[in-house]
Amino acid sequence: MMSFLIHSVLVLVSLYVHQSSASFTPTDNYLITCGSSQNITYLGQIYVPDSTQSSFDLETEKDTNIVNSNSPVPLAIHQSARVFTSTFTYKFNIQKQGRHWIRLHFYPIPGHNLDSASFTITTEQFVLLNSHSFKTDSKFISKEYSVNVTADALLLNIIPSNNSIAFVNAIEVVSIPDELIPDQATGLSHNPVNGLSELAFETVYRLNMGGPKLTPQNDTLGRIWENDEKYLHVNSSAANVSIDPSTVKYTQDLTPEIAPNWVYATAQTMGDANVAELKFNITWVLPVDPDFAYFVRVHFCDIVSKSPNTLLFNVYINSDNAYPDLDISSLTGNLDMPVYRDFVTNSTYEANTLTVSVGPKQDADEPNAILNGLEVLKISNGARSLDGASAVGDLVVFRAKKTIKIGVVVAAVVGAAVALAIVLGLCYCCVVGRGSKKTGDLKSSWFPPQFYGNSVTMTKTTMTASCISLASCNLGRNFSFQEILDATNKFDESLLLGVGGFGRVYKGTMEDGTHVAVKRGNPRSEQGLAEFRTEIEMLSKLRHRHLVSLIGYCDERSEMILIYEYMANGPLRSHLYGSDLASLSWKQRLEICIGAARGLHYLHTGASQGVIHRDVKTTNILLDENFVAKVADFGLSKAGPSLDQTHVSTAVKGSFGYLDPEYFRRRQLTEKSDVYSFGVVLMEVLCARPAVNPVLPRDQVNIAEWALTWQRKGNLDQIIDPNLVGKVNSASLKKYGETAEKCLAEYGVDRLSMGDVLWNLEYALQLEETSAMVEPEDSSMNHIQGIGLGSLEPFDNSVSMIDTDKF
Ligand SMILES: *[C@@H]1O[C@H](CO)[C@@H](O)[C@H](O)[C@H]1NC(C)=O
Ligand SMILES: *[C@@H]1O[C@H](CO)[C@@H](O)[C@H](O)[C@H]1NC(C)=O
Ligand SMILES: *[C@@H]1O[C@H](CO)[C@@H](O)[C@H](O)[C@H]1NC(C)=O
Repeated sequence: MMSFLIHSVLVLVSLYVHQSSASFTPTDNYLITCGSSQNITYLGQIYVPDSTQSSFDLETEKDTNIVNSNSPVPLAIHQSARVFTSTFTYKFNIQKQGRHWIRLHFYPIPGHNLDSASFTITTEQFVLLNSHSFKTDSKFISKEYSVNVTADALLLNIIPSNNSIAFVNAIEVVSIPDELIPDQATGLSHNPVNGLSELAFETVYRLNMGGPKLTPQNDTLGRIWENDEKYLHVNSSAANVSIDPSTVKYTQDLTPEIAPNWVYATAQTMGDANVAELKFNITWVLPVDPDFAYFVRVHFCDIVSKSPNTLLFNVYINSDNAYPDLDISSLTGNLDMPVYRDFVTNSTYEANTLTVSVGPKQDADEPNAILNGLEVLKISNGARSLDGASAVGDLVVFRAKKTIKIGVVVAAVVGAAVALAIVLGLCYCCVVGRGSKKTGDLKSSWFPPQFYGNSVTMTKTTMTASCISLASCNLGRNFSFQEILDATNKFDESLLLGVGGFGRVYKGTMEDGTHVAVKRGNPRSEQGLAEFRTEIEMLSKLRHRHLVSLIGYCDERSEMILIYEYMANGPLRSHLYGSDLASLSWKQRLEICIGAARGLHYLHTGASQGVIHRDVKTTNILLDENFVAKVADFGLSKAGPSLDQTHVSTAVKGSFGYLDPEYFRRRQLTEKSDVYSFGVVLMEVLCARPAVNPVLPRDQVNIAEWALTWQRKGNLDQIIDPNLVGKVNSASLKKYGETAEKCLAEYGVDRLSMGDVLWNLEYALQLEETSAMVEPEDSSMNHIQGIGLGSLEPFDNSVSMIDTDKF
């Protein structure tokens, strides 16, 4: 205890000394207090009122007002807030391009209804906060982002959600050293990951292992470092150690800008966990949003060894041995000398936690392991968002805001996803959650009416009408709420199949034992009404073996509940990657694609009026107990041949990575947009990777672009799912590749119709089935002469089925 105190004193002194000789001075250093009329001093720094900044142009702004607190506030910068009722843009002139912190401070000052606020905050390139609200906790929050500013101004758009308000108490925009975040880090299987310099990050954890909390005053870059103990998996597995911080030996390459010396001067090492052998891991468990990839920086400094090369341990990130047999002193050449390593994790799709462990090398003489500091930064996803949901192929809604101008249009050059993200820098962008439970991720398709642009009022009124007339539609049975409660065991969370932004899907069991999927819209929310209604309208018109069918509904107590047939094998995507389900054979994959194609073909042509699904993707293709594919989720479907194209606020909806580039450019929706999305599905099924994976090298991020280049070179077989290698008939693959290519054509007119896609896939299946029968024939004929000739006859018959005239 005493030595800890002494150390603390020493640390404070040395930090103080260090600060006064700080080597880094930020070129851009905006510390802004919003809505305040005077300078505010916080942690020794002066925050100036936003009204004094001429670039913010607040003088002419009528749609903002100011709120001040009369009672004590948590932090000095919470004294005031600026409140917005329409989109407002803070413009920060930037002197030095490169990485900057953007720190946002929010405290819903009591008594002004600020805790009802809901808003989105974007830069020109990235979504930082997406429909953020304070609903339950009216505590304060601070967010720290790091973005690479590559223009002479940084625009921060504050966008209130429909009928809501936005507010912010303080904003910091501060230059950080370019070296702080490199372009490259180590990814899965030790492969390098490039391109980080173009992405945005949000700090989610910054931990000082075994040491005290460090505040912005203790850090040359104004960072906060928390103590790690509450994240330890087993408390007794770790024991903290510390040295005099002034003995930490910084180098030219590793300066206090990387981390303050107090981070390196303390650590967790292996504790006495009452086990005979010191052969266990120290594990930190960090809750994260599984839909994002993370940048993980581990900080080490050997402050325990008596001599170099005696401390050998492994560093695990999730279950990956990210750094086997790490010997810190061989990296630094010295004890007490800091070093750090950077890793990038993939989005896990499932686990809601990220774990970091250190544990001794298998045969270490003196088993020990150490960790001094840990930073975990969320990486912006393929939709250039840090908030919302999935890194991959999920629902994205864009709306051009009339108050802000659209950025440079480069859509023609790049494939759908990446281009969209760039083009829409200034657009309203929203990524909506997908469920992430093992049993399936049926995303709810309910959307807030706000996304319907100017049609909001209409939507609300017609919804009421449609609710009243539910019973008159062909919607199957009207269930009582009690029946639903019984079926789902009162919406037992253990029966949750998936969660979407606006509702949850549960597995239910009816009285007669049949399983159903129960989709429940948030009962108190007006959000989602429009899509609920669309889904009802569509489903009442559509019945097909390859469309998920509706069993009934419940509208008691203003509930919005739909009951569907239960799809035992869940979404197609979970059978392709991101889970430990058995790999599907090529034949199974073809049959599934054919089933889905049939469903879509029926939508396009079978219904009285053609229907465009608008959200075709591998999570919306569900598999029943016999792996029969059915298309689900009609919340975005659109009847008729085209949208009202003249409308200013025509919304582009669909999922990232699946969105037809032509639809995006021209805002004209046709069946061919579904065909494009289906082409992406075909590639995903073949390559077993997400439609968009931002962690991959740039040319691989978007599967449509990447797979097309291989297809055009005639080398598609080089990138197929490793589980398929050697198990796919080459003629079948060739046909399949050509089909996918024709779905992904740049222009709709060049794409196949869904009927042609179906026909081509059936041909590919024929080729596969025939070859499966021909091959054993070859081998048995060659090697075991005369055996089984009789049984070969059916094979001959089926060979003759491949009569090209037929196709
Ligand atoms: C507020 O702080 C700024 C920057 O430090 C300074 O230039 C200005 O004079 C201060 N204003 C007042 C009223 O103290
Ligand atoms: C910022 O982006 C530009 C352009 O992509 C790049 O040249 C630069 O190296 C990046 N800077 C940092 C610090 O990542
Ligand atoms: C440490 O954790 C890793 C990753 O979870 C695991 O593979 C390894 O077996 C663990 N080591 C010990 C000694 O428990």
